[in-house]
Amino acid sequence: MVTELPEHVERNRRHWDDMAAGWVEPGRRNWSAAEPTWGIWAIPETELHLLPEDLTGKDAIELGCGTGYVSGWLARRGARPVGIDNSARQLATARRFQQEFGVEFPLVHGNAEQVPYPDASFDLAISEYGAAIWCDPYRWVPEAARLLRPGGRLVFLGNHSFLQLCTVDTEDVRPAGDRLQRDYFGLHRLEWVSDDSVEFALPYGEWFRLLRSNGFEVEDLIELQAPPEATRDFDFVTADWAKRWPSEHVIKAVKPG
Ligand SMILES: C[S@@+](CC[C@H](N)C(=O)[O-])C[C@H]1O[C@@H](n2cnc3c(N)ncnc32)[C@H](O)[C@@H]1O
Repeated sequence: MVTELPEHVERNRRHWDDMAAGWVEPGRRNWSAAEPTWGIWAIPETELHLLPEDLTGKDAIELGCGTGYVSGWLARRGARPVGIDNSARQLATARRFQQEFGVEFPLVHGNAEQVPYPDASFDLAISEYGAAIWCDPYRWVPEAARLLRPGGRLVFLGNHSFLQLCTVDTEDVRPAGDRLQRDYFGLHRLEWVSDDSVEFALPYGEWFRLLRSNGFEVEDLIELQAPPEATRDFDFVTADWAKRWPSEHVIKAVKPG
């Protein structure tokens, strides 16, 4: 059994333990929401339909659950979620919210690239900015395929690759500008110098090939546009940028039954 964490997982663990305090209030807002909204532009579930219609009795795993609100939404819709996260501090917040909101489910401290559950344990694997961007796709996608039952669904949301192409980790190109700053071909590991974290992104053809080579059928690639009323600017992307180009994507895939 491998016990040592890959280097990027160790670095991201330190990063997220450091960041956790700043994610308590956003987490509480999402736990409090009556209806799920997705991504930084808070696009409603009624528009995006990321969740399967009937979640009653479904086993679900959230890969990189952070403060756990997505799993909270799943549990309220009748699913049996498990959240795994690499940061003990993020999980401590998730535990607090479970008590505050009266929703209990297992929380596992670990690496979503190597999940301590048997093959075919789940009907849904989901990630919103968790494994979707912080784990190596060549490790976490095969792991998601292993964990899902035939007929199981994979849904993940993360930064669009266009955004990563227009971003470099220095003040002059952050937030993203209107120029390509890095190569598209070979896009994979992104080193952020300012906070010593490591993110991942792939060209879209590569996402599709990776998913298909792990037995998935790709159902949809949704490119998210900031709504006309969006005004909030983030340090990595502005609302105006995201009205012109997609800053986030969702990929939906199914493991055929
Ligand atoms: C932005 S949060 C996303 C989770 C949730 N949607 C939220 O916003 O609270 C990113 C999470 O991914 C987790 N993460 C990073 N690398 C991971 C890994 N290798 N395995 C599991 N979780 C990981 C971090 O610890 C962090 O809690």
